[in-house]
Amino acid sequence: MSKVTVVGAGNVGATVANVLAHQDLVREIVLVDIKEDFAKGKALDTCQQAPIDYYSTKMIGTKDYRKTKNSDIVVITAGIPRRPGMSRDDLISTNAKIVASVTSSILKYSKNPIIIIVSNPLDVMTYAAHKVSKLNPKRVFGMAGILDTARYRCFLSEKLNVSPKDIQAVLMGGHGDTMVPLPRYTTVAGIPVTELIEKADLNAIVERTKKGGGELVKLMGTSAWYAPGAAAAQMVGAILRDEQRIFPCCAMLSGQYGLKNIFLGVPVKLGKNGIEEIIELKLNKSEMKLLHKSADHVKKVITVFNKMKVV
Ligand code: LAC
Repeated sequence: MSKVTVVGAGNVGATVANVLAHQDLVREIVLVDIKEDFAKGKALDTCQQAPIDYYSTKMIGTKDYRKTKNSDIVVITAGIPRRPGMSRDDLISTNAKIVASVTSSILKYSKNPIIIIVSNPLDVMTYAAHKVSKLNPKRVFGMAGILDTARYRCFLSEKLNVSPKDIQAVLMGGHGDTMVPLPRYTTVAGIPVTELIEKADLNAIVERTKKGGGELVKLMGTSAWYAPGAAAAQMVGAILRDEQRIFPCCAMLSGQYGLKNIFLGVPVKLGKNGIEEIIELKLNKSEMKLLHKSADHVKKVITVFNKMKVV
């Protein structure tokens, strides 16, 4: 059994920890937050849920990084969320410092953890965590594609009136408005989605997906947590069970899709070593163009980060 640390006891971090506790897969979850009582409270609440929901996972809350010692996986959700009117990129000045400092604190007590980034702007925060940690990039990656794909699958299931379980899809690129949904790779119980839906309806769903995070920020005044938390927990589960599952994740590219020195959403295989493989789809010209446009956008934000000289 393993030890998992979740940094940030806000809505997303607490949801990752709570969903993971229910999977009964981890011996101990350490929930870290500078607001220590908040972390302790969320951990205690989850411990008190255990006799009802029937799991043995232990959870503690703390602000003391010594308690994270020898973590196998660390999920970083720390940072501020979006408020209405903000893009994810607007968070960089605050979140870059937080993610850099959290990553170096983690590395003091865990030598070779797998780090999953959830903080925004996601692709650049993943780049930052890799730069600070200097870990093998197979062990540092970000959660965004599972969430964006889930939103897309949810909207399709509503439109087609079929179970979301039967919708398979993949989505690539940055976690932002330039993300690249791929209708050509979307199926409903094996049937290409293009056979089941009008083009205009599919386009509307693609556009809604791109702005899916913003739709929730508008509704709630802050960003989402149930689906983002469950998505990060799903990645942890796939790694700890060494499942070799294929998910879109934010990974470092070193030539794949003609891109390098960038972290971007691509399909990967997750197993006990983290990213076991990056899968290269045979994208057509227009898909490739959209992916490169998304990469250009992420590169611009990486430049902003590098100019900050946080690392
Ligand atoms: C979202 C945030 C978590 O997309 O990035 O809801």
